[in-house]
Amino acid sequence: MTFCSSSFNLESRTKVVYGCDAVARVGLLARELDGQSALLVTDPGVHGAGHCDHVRKILEASGVRVNIFDGVHENPTTDDVNACVAKAQAADSPIDLIVGLGGGSSLDTAKGCNFLLTNGGEMVDYWGVGKADRPMLPLIAIPTTAGTGSECQSFALIADAKNHQKMACGDPKAAAAIAILDPKLTTTLPPLVTACTGLDAITHAVESFVTTRRNAFSTMVAAQSFSLLISHFHLVLSKPDDLEARGAMLWSASLAGMAIENSMLGAAHAAANPLTARYGMTHGHAVGLMLPHVIRFNAQDHKTQIHYAQLACSAGCVMQDADESTATHALLACIEEQLGLTGLSCTIHGCGVKESAIVDLADEAVQQWTAQFNPRPIARNDFIALYKAAFN
Ligand SMILES: [Fe+2]
Repeated sequence: MTFCSSSFNLESRTKVVYGCDAVARVGLLARELDGQSALLVTDPGVHGAGHCDHVRKILEASGVRVNIFDGVHENPTTDDVNACVAKAQAADSPIDLIVGLGGGSSLDTAKGCNFLLTNGGEMVDYWGVGKADRPMLPLIAIPTTAGTGSECQSFALIADAKNHQKMACGDPKAAAAIAILDPKLTTTLPPLVTACTGLDAITHAVESFVTTRRNAFSTMVAAQSFSLLISHFHLVLSKPDDLEARGAMLWSASLAGMAIENSMLGAAHAAANPLTARYGMTHGHAVGLMLPHVIRFNAQDHKTQIHYAQLACSAGCVMQDADESTATHALLACIEEQLGLTGLSCTIHGCGVKESAIVDLADEAVQQWTAQFNPRPIARNDFIALYKAAFN
């Protein structure tokens, strides 16, 4: 990035309300948005943990009627969105506010539902950016994971139920009007979810720092996000009730979401998506596993290596006067250490991937939307090499 050749717009679409017990303000915030009839979108796990009823009671105490859709699946598909829309359309009074509560899957389903409720058609109609012509309903996003940063993005990632193609559907109008970040909501996460969502956030920070779309704002928030993530990840894994660490992770995941909104992602996400679609690998695990291999590939481009070195230095992974090669190796060591902390497999062979599938995986990876923003141009053969490096 150079200041003379870059240009960007900085527009804060989402009001961020942060704090322990901040969720108690959801009723007042809903009324601030003139919400009278809300659709609360969540998944069975979040509902079972009691968060859904907690939010429903707060909304109802403020005079907001609540319709609950709790059928969101992980890696939501068009089927999830269609079921959510059907629930909204069956409400006694027209829905005028959507509340997404949960991980990225719930927040993305809430956004997907918003597209169809207000603009009609199917999700594929909104694949891309800025395809919605009509106004959309206000959205309150309440993340219960520190991972996707979806609460600070205008994109809904929805897979086609038939062909599993992940569609990134973005529109400024789809961004949450308000994001409520309450660290207490993340303390009930199962350890595996804490681990995978943390790896996802780390990957977001690293990838968004180096993309072809990077700019002064995205690099600032990505660097701050990365620094916070690597200094608190081990704490949320070892002390799940540590609210200081939970808060740092939640805030830094949202910062990484802001970075993505401004600079997109790269090849680790492109390589991970087929692993999730074909082998059911959890998204965060897949991106975290592929990230070191992508860094090694990208660092062969000297300009990108300098960017990795800057990230390593700013996060304190290495001394400020280290050369680019040393700093990039320190970044790699730091990221591999984070992956090691989770106890998850560091190879795709360990996740059940067959070596014979690598060519097909590469065929799909190279078509992924995020591949185009990778700082070093990446082709099918490069993805084959990445998967082979990650195999065992
Ligand atoms: Fe991700």
